[in-house]
Amino acid sequence: MKASQFFISTLKEAPADAEVTSHKLMMRAGFIKRISAGIYNYMPMGLRVIRKVEAVIRDEMNRAGAIELLMPVVQPAELWQETGRFQKYGPELLRVKDRHDRDFVIQPTSEEVMTDIARQELRSYRALPKNFYHIQTKFRDERRPRFGVMRGREFTMKDAYSFDRDVEAASKSYDVMYAAYTRIFERMQLSFRAVAADNGSIGGVRSHEFQVIADTGEDAIIYCPTSDYAANIEMAEAVAPSAGRAAPSKALTKAPTPGKSTCEDVAQLLGVPLQNTVKSLVLATDELNAAGDVAKTTVWLLLVRGDHSLNEIKAGKLPGLKTGFRFATAAEIDAHFGCKPGYLGPIGLKQPVKVVVDRTVAAMSDFICGANEVDFHYTGVNWGRDVPEPDLVADIRNVVAGDPSPDGKGVLAIQRGIEVGHVFLLGSYYSQAMNATYLDENGKPQLLQMGCYGIGVTRLLGAAIEQNHDERGIIWPTTMAPFEVVLCPIGYDRSAEVKAAADQLHQRLLSQGVDVLLDDRGERPGAMFADWELIGVPHRVVLSDRGLKEGKVEYQGRREAQASAIPAADVAAFVKAKLGS
Ligand SMILES: Nc1ncnc2c1ncn2[C@@H]1O[C@H](COP(=O)(O)OP(=O)(O)O)[C@@H](O)[C@H]1O
Ligand SMILES: [Mg+2]
Repeated sequence: MKASQFFISTLKEAPADAEVTSHKLMMRAGFIKRISAGIYNYMPMGLRVIRKVEAVIRDEMNRAGAIELLMPVVQPAELWQETGRFQKYGPELLRVKDRHDRDFVIQPTSEEVMTDIARQELRSYRALPKNFYHIQTKFRDERRPRFGVMRGREFTMKDAYSFDRDVEAASKSYDVMYAAYTRIFERMQLSFRAVAADNGSIGGVRSHEFQVIADTGEDAIIYCPTSDYAANIEMAEAVAPSAGRAAPSKALTKAPTPGKSTCEDVAQLLGVPLQNTVKSLVLATDELNAAGDVAKTTVWLLLVRGDHSLNEIKAGKLPGLKTGFRFATAAEIDAHFGCKPGYLGPIGLKQPVKVVVDRTVAAMSDFICGANEVDFHYTGVNWGRDVPEPDLVADIRNVVAGDPSPDGKGVLAIQRGIEVGHVFLLGSYYSQAMNATYLDENGKPQLLQMGCYGIGVTRLLGAAIEQNHDERGIIWPTTMAPFEVVLCPIGYDRSAEVKAAADQLHQRLLSQGVDVLLDDRGERPGAMFADWELIGVPHRVVLSDRGLKEGKVEYQGRREAQASAIPAADVAAFVKAKLGS
């Protein structure tokens, strides 16, 4: 490829709305062009990277035995109604109507269409196992599209769906995908972790997110540096303190805390550690009658230590809260506690509430909590003595750095990550809803056991750049680079020798299968180098009159601080060796 026959469009400055490095660099390097919030044109240079990413993914998916097909972007609502997702999916699902006023969706994912194919095509146990995938445009009307292609509204995803005869076989298919994902991200030379993830309401048994480590990541990854434990914040278990509860040593005292409605303020006023305080959160659950009206409301008091935060995913798995909860209204709080938020606690309730206490709080003694009276807190509170033992003790908080690892092999640390892939054992959730069965050896219909596996193709560009850049621009891993090698002749338009040598090297590398670009634009060296450093081509060869007179060219790897002189005759072999091919 010659630059003159390609399209290169770089910018000195990133647009003001670009917050993170990857978004800035992708805009400056001319990879993407914004057309609407979260919707981008993939410009020629960016599309080359996307195609490289897709090639690695295809290669590893095919190697793992998955079979490529292509499902439509526009999908009939009927299929989505069968699983209830046409109603249940939030505003992220773009619902459209055709000219006949029929409902359609722009697919955010393809479980329904895939399950529909499977129930028609996979009729016998002999057809199993199967794993189908496609690389297709997705649309999710994200509330906060941001960071360029990292959280777009339109984006490209590889999604795969496995079908097996039983849970054990499905679990094997899952392991195969887990291994394939590991190879994919290793080939892209990314630093990543596979973390145990929550599988939401589906109730499958296993789920892992593949997280690329980056400070700008939207997710918190919890891991143990001295073991292989890793989980996302929703999942990571906060174990009970090993020490247990100490005996009471203080008397229950009502302390004035005027205007101090947060644990931080109370701890500061009383001159005690924040760890001595307890935070109250009030939830409510509604039981509906046959007509769908609220028949009964239960109010819940959840207690976590003052320096901890409630984990709503964990709370949502508890008996009584599983079917859905909301935060209580001001009126409900007043009716049960006789006080406004900021001074709430478990002592002296006006009406009974269900009390759920975090494991850490259950092990506290002589603690501080609201007195259910504005401007007052209790100190020296003790379970069993001042307040009945809680109805339920459970893990309801987010872990914090320094907590013991649930595997008992060290303490937890936290780092940020970008979710680039997700593997998910679905079980029979979709096959049940859509009656997708196969006939077993005895001719008996059985539900297909499913897994689904996503990779954010376009998000990977952003994630890779977050990990691989410097002040001059992007540094692509070779497998993702728009070009593997760039030839930068100095004076291509002026020197016949330079032109001849550059053309010859270009041809030689092309014939050897190297993805090389010859910059024949005749740009000044400074501008030319700046462009390719910004674009992030990993290998650069500079040809000049002066060098060629000595039989030399210059090679510089994008991460190297200095160029090195290479005999012109050896350069093709040298570059090939650098590419590891
Ligand atoms: N808005 C988005 N923009 C870009 N990529 C996305 C977006 N949403 C999801 N992805 C990618 O698709 C993969 C599979 O999506 P999925 O796990 O269904 O999404 P989520 O975790 O947002 O529910 C994610 O791991 C991520 O890499
Ligand atoms: Mg996910």
